Amino acid sequence: MTMERKPVAYGDLRGWISALKSAGELQEIDAEVDPNIELGTIMRLAQGPGTGPALLFNNIKGYNIPTSRCRRIFGSALNNYRRIAMMLGLPRDAHARELVKIGRNILSETMPPKIVKTGPVKENIVTGTGNDIDIDQFPSPYWNRLDGGRYIITYAGVVTKDPETNVMNVGVYRGMVGGRDKIPILMWRAQHIGHHVTAWQAAGKNEMPIAVAIGWEPTLGFCAGSPVPKGVCEYDVMGAIRGEPVELVKCETNDLYVPATAEIVIEGVLNLDPETYEMEGPYAEFTGYVAGDKSPKPTIRVTCITHRNDPILRGTIEGCMPGSFSENAMISSIFRSSMAWNVLDRAGVPGITDVWGPPVQAGMNLNIQMKQSYRGQAKQAANALWGSSAAHVRYKHVTVVDDDIDIHDYAAVDWAIAYRVNAGENDIVIMPATFGLGLDPSTRKRDRNPALFGTGKWNRVLIDATINLDFDPDPDFGGARYPPTVWPAEKDVESAKARWSELGFNKPKRG
Ligand SMILES: Cc1cc2nc3c(=O)[nH]c(=O)nc-3n(C[C@H](O)[C@H](O)[C@H](O)COP(=O)(O)O)c2cc1C
Repeated sequence: MTMERKPVAYGDLRGWISALKSAGELQEIDAEVDPNIELGTIMRLAQGPGTGPALLFNNIKGYNIPTSRCRRIFGSALNNYRRIAMMLGLPRDAHARELVKIGRNILSETMPPKIVKTGPVKENIVTGTGNDIDIDQFPSPYWNRLDGGRYIITYAGVVTKDPETNVMNVGVYRGMVGGRDKIPILMWRAQHIGHHVTAWQAAGKNEMPIAVAIGWEPTLGFCAGSPVPKGVCEYDVMGAIRGEPVELVKCETNDLYVPATAEIVIEGVLNLDPETYEMEGPYAEFTGYVAGDKSPKPTIRVTCITHRNDPILRGTIEGCMPGSFSENAMISSIFRSSMAWNVLDRAGVPGITDVWGPPVQAGMNLNIQMKQSYRGQAKQAANALWGSSAAHVRYKHVTVVDDDIDIHDYAAVDWAIAYRVNAGENDIVIMPATFGLGLDPSTRKRDRNPALFGTGKWNRVLIDATINLDFDPDPDFGGARYPPTVWPAEKDVESAKARWSELGFNKPKRG
């Protein structure tokens, strides 16, 4: 049984912020904060292991003047399961396991958007003619000291479209401030934006229309940063999650559509000619490392900026480490788990009872819990996963356990690995030289050059920590293949528990 959702439409970023405030989930910071390294440092320290508040910076150094185009920055909203539950219309105390189950269907439901004539995002229109376009008018943070520059696109919806089907795609692809009207972005060919690039190039074009929607309801960043199936537009999925169609307006300088109540929209063209690429990176990435990658990248030439009055710049700090979990990591822990479960189901792997990629590594290491019914089932699961495109940037290490092991409990998984894994019995399997994440520092730099190979290079590992069904049934174990554990029989537990108070266990401790 999965929990019932009651979809919520928050209206826009401001509606979401006020809902967070009412729920006690928001911290407003009125003290002046420097967007140059200080803001990113504060965000990283404040986020905690899924425990920190959402943050609204009201006083950005150098921008808190009446003539400023943008004075506020909002982030850290989805780095906590309570707030992810709010986005999905679930009780705030829903367990991560429930979120994973809900996540299994969330990206496949659709509700088409509604086109409207205009909206608040058109309150200010800055074009190249008359008003000079200058993205420096926005307080794009220098998030981390080792970043290659200031990043304006960190958790925004980058909109492109397929030139043949006209179906739009909305994805999160980081973008650095490269000049007054230049934003180089990181996009891999395997991503849907990459598919669009290929299609535009095949059509003989050197440029592709692009729009960047910054700041809306939480579903914008969530859907844009999630692997919505190819050919399905993220706006349709956002509509289904919030239970109301997303209202879209047409861009001023191209025929892409963006949320009418977005805070800021950057319109432009993505130059596809390598001669026009601008230097981008490095950037503190989701792996928790500043993993090289300073190179010339496809660059947006901005043709127009539209924004609300007094807009709020939505950003996020990337990079998850023990004790400091990013938004991407918390989201990934849920939805990369849901996706993996769906892949296993579609491949016909039976008996899957739970799937979990803990937030600190966001699904690089995936735990699968299964009820085994035949030999080799764990290997079937790993093969199914690794053969799916969902595995491109996740599921490097897969651990499979039996259904008596709680995969949300590190100790339980550790115990299973200790006593159910035998490398000499093929419980450790290496699948060498597969495709993989181009940002993983454990791969040599040459092998993760997207320009050279289009992808990274991963040697994947299965840890089969299930009871070995290749063992013979053993009469000493009552015909089972494995010895019984030391845990008492249910009836003995019940009898002992019935005497628990009498034995003094429930009494208050002496001070
Ligand atoms: C905060 C955040 C930053 C991301 N940065 C990038 C990026 O710079 N480049 C990239 O290709 N994917 C990036 N991703 C991952 C993609 O957004 C994700 O794979 C998404 O599914 C891409 O959209 P698509 O499925 O429509 O291609 C990021 C995701 C998040 C949540």
